[in-house]
Amino acid sequence: MQGLIFHVRPGFEADLAAEVASKLPKYGLVGYPKTGAGQVFWYGFQPFHVDQNAIANLVFARQALWILADVPELPREDRVSAVLAALPGKGKQQYGGVRIEASDADALRPLSTLCKKLTNPMRNALRKAGWLSDKEDTSLPWLHLVFTSETSAVVAMSPQLPEWPMGIVRLKFPNKAPSRSTLKLDEAFRVLAPDITQTMGGQWCVDLGAAPGGWTYQLVRRGARVYAVDNGPMDPELMETGQVEHVKADGFSWQPPKQIEWLVCDMVEQPSRVADLMAFWIDNQLCRRAMFNLKLPMKKRWQAVEDALARINNGISPGLLVRAKQLYHDREEITVVIAPR
Ligand SMILES: C[S@@+](CC[C@H](N)C(=O)[O-])C[C@H]1O[C@@H](n2cnc3c(N)ncnc32)[C@H](O)[C@@H]1O
Repeated sequence: MQGLIFHVRPGFEADLAAEVASKLPKYGLVGYPKTGAGQVFWYGFQPFHVDQNAIANLVFARQALWILADVPELPREDRVSAVLAALPGKGKQQYGGVRIEASDADALRPLSTLCKKLTNPMRNALRKAGWLSDKEDTSLPWLHLVFTSETSAVVAMSPQLPEWPMGIVRLKFPNKAPSRSTLKLDEAFRVLAPDITQTMGGQWCVDLGAAPGGWTYQLVRRGARVYAVDNGPMDPELMETGQVEHVKADGFSWQPPKQIEWLVCDMVEQPSRVADLMAFWIDNQLCRRAMFNLKLPMKKRWQAVEDALARINNGISPGLLVRAKQLYHDREEITVVIAPR
């Protein structure tokens, strides 16, 4: 095992590199990161074993893969043979299939057509050479060919086939939702809290900075009743559901009449201020769970995230789950969940 490759939101490569450089040594992984377009590489100074925990909780990584081989020169006329020649050892049908991918960064997005075109010939050749099982098998690890340019790639593997190629969560925009932001909370619930957000029937929730109602829409859709806190106007159709109470107040001082289930918050404010507010609600049992965005308009984004997460962890009881991730639908921001384990 010589390295790792991460998919990351284009423009956030340096932030992930800073995060990886600060976190991986704590797991005994000593090496150096390198940035690409929508990709970050990490190479170990010596062979290493990956602790799944070391990479599972990286905030800025959309997806992590283990590098098996670098293919620095992929001749346009025969890429398949170059990949086969680069694979170390012999195939023992140890992979359930292959995925060919690049990145959604401007420099690499045009390669998506090539990725599609190459998939069948690559799969057939890998199968013939004994690398893949006879039929696709999702119980086995998966091979990935990740283009780093039109004529270079890395061959990588994932212990399990990742659900979303390159960590890009494709969701359909619900045409009745009042804003595109709705997809951020939909993805957040699916990715960060899939077991507890299927139905919220009758539960009271709070949405701080709710207008025009994209996030409230996701709570209403799941059956919740919502205090929507914002001085701005809420979508009239959403108000007609009868599940929403519009509270025209300041989200930093308003409090609910009794403990609510979920607090969600999309207010555009300094991450430290939002972090302190969320910790306050959890610690004072105003809510059981919180899901919120931390906006990151600054340059040193990893430092701002580290600081905000430290404030949250210092402000709440130990033992609660705190998970942060830059989701596909997040832009200059990340999403954080705080919940009982
Ligand atoms: C990014 S928008 C929220 C969009 C919303 N999540 C949606 O999906 O439609 C931020 C909102 O926060 C509100 N906001 C900002 N500061 C606030 C505060 N102190 N109290 C309440 N609302 C606030 C703004 O009025 C604005 O409507």
